[in-house]
Amino acid sequence: MDRFNIPQKWKWFYEDRYGIFIHWGPYSVYGRGEQIAFREHLDLLEYEKIACDWNPKDFDAKKWAKVAKEAGFKYACFTTKHHDGYCMWDTKLTDYSSAKQAPKRDFVREYVEAFRSEGFKIGLYYSWMDWRIPVYFEGPKADKKAWESYKQYMHGQVEELLSNYGKIDYFFFDGVWPRNAEELGSLQLVEKMRQLQPDIMINDRLGYDKNKDENTDGGMGAGGAANLGDFGTPERTVVADEFRMWESCQVSGWRLWGYTKGERWLAADKLLDILCECTSKGGNLLLNVGPDADGNFPDEFMERTLTIGAWLKKHGEAIYGHGSGELTEFVTHGYQTIKGNNMYLIIRFWDGEPSLRLADILTPVKDVTLLTTSEKLKFRQKDEVLYIDGLPKKNPAELFPVIKIEFEEKPETNQWGRERLWEGDPNRVAAWAKQRGTDNNVLAVR
Ligand code: GLC
Repeated sequence: MDRFNIPQKWKWFYEDRYGIFIHWGPYSVYGRGEQIAFREHLDLLEYEKIACDWNPKDFDAKKWAKVAKEAGFKYACFTTKHHDGYCMWDTKLTDYSSAKQAPKRDFVREYVEAFRSEGFKIGLYYSWMDWRIPVYFEGPKADKKAWESYKQYMHGQVEELLSNYGKIDYFFFDGVWPRNAEELGSLQLVEKMRQLQPDIMINDRLGYDKNKDENTDGGMGAGGAANLGDFGTPERTVVADEFRMWESCQVSGWRLWGYTKGERWLAADKLLDILCECTSKGGNLLLNVGPDADGNFPDEFMERTLTIGAWLKKHGEAIYGHGSGELTEFVTHGYQTIKGNNMYLIIRFWDGEPSLRLADILTPVKDVTLLTTSEKLKFRQKDEVLYIDGLPKKNPAELFPVIKIEFEEKPETNQWGRERLWEGDPNRVAAWAKQRGTDNNVLAVR
């Protein structure tokens, strides 16, 4: 699936497929999400006081990295500064940081070092928006001087992050509203970023021009631009980006990104389902965790993602390594992913039937294995239909079982396999309907 002619230096992104998003900052003290200050219209000075006193005693980045690795994540993205403006590193440009306030620690450095040493690709999140800065909302016209100084501050901070922490693989801008790319000087900054980090991948939230560009952030208002950025970031949706590589960012609870007391959690099978859907549609999943105020990953998050990690240990080849899928219609069972000559059937709904019928397969099959148990399965091919036989009655996996089909060559399908209902050529449906008889309009049961 080299639809976008991905440069070598970015191939890791699609091979890794699964990243962990970490939303962490002083907002975790409140336990009502990362945007509490705005959403509850708090007094910013009071918030600032609480932020300056915040001192997460349990934070141990090495512990996070170990859990994340065990859970099967391959890359990570950490909030260096969210919309509240609090900086999680030792920035020279403000005192409002974890290095200067109570913790006296450079959290970004701790994160980068721990995750890098566990083999993760390193991502940083940075919000343009800072709720404490009036000119950000009034715009450059209101006060040119103040705007210039905030612009320099943002650019300067990004440069710091890309200069002092070794290789940064990936950068996630956010919070563009209500500014545009020209005002932010985002394209000039991107150039600078590529000088500092030649291999870096930068996301699409660079500030689109509402009159010219299409918004691709799934309507979240985060400023994803169709024509900017190396990868798209559909938020809380799984929508393939037509323009470039993409990654869906998703919460693991029900709604918020930052730590939330009394959170409701998506079940492990639902989270895995999102990962499989992303892979199958040719994109990545960046799954979020909001650590608590002391710096712990919530137990419910660990429990679920470690269950997925155990699944990935057995079935990971269906996900990692640039698999993508949907050779034929498969939604009645689950997802397909394809890698080279192999196709993986990820079964969401195990029906207990001994045989699985896969229509519209043109390529000869070499071997079929139930990856979950490593058992070889019998198969037959007849009239472009592949039958896989000898399946167990009981679902053999804790989550989704996977069947691996090795083809003689890259698997091919026919028109029927390629086109879904509501799309493609309706005449193929007519041809199918005609197979019941010659008369086009017989309504009677035969
Ligand atoms: C949104 C939110 C933000 C969150 C982000 C993640 O734009 O403003 O709170 O960090 O999306 O993609």
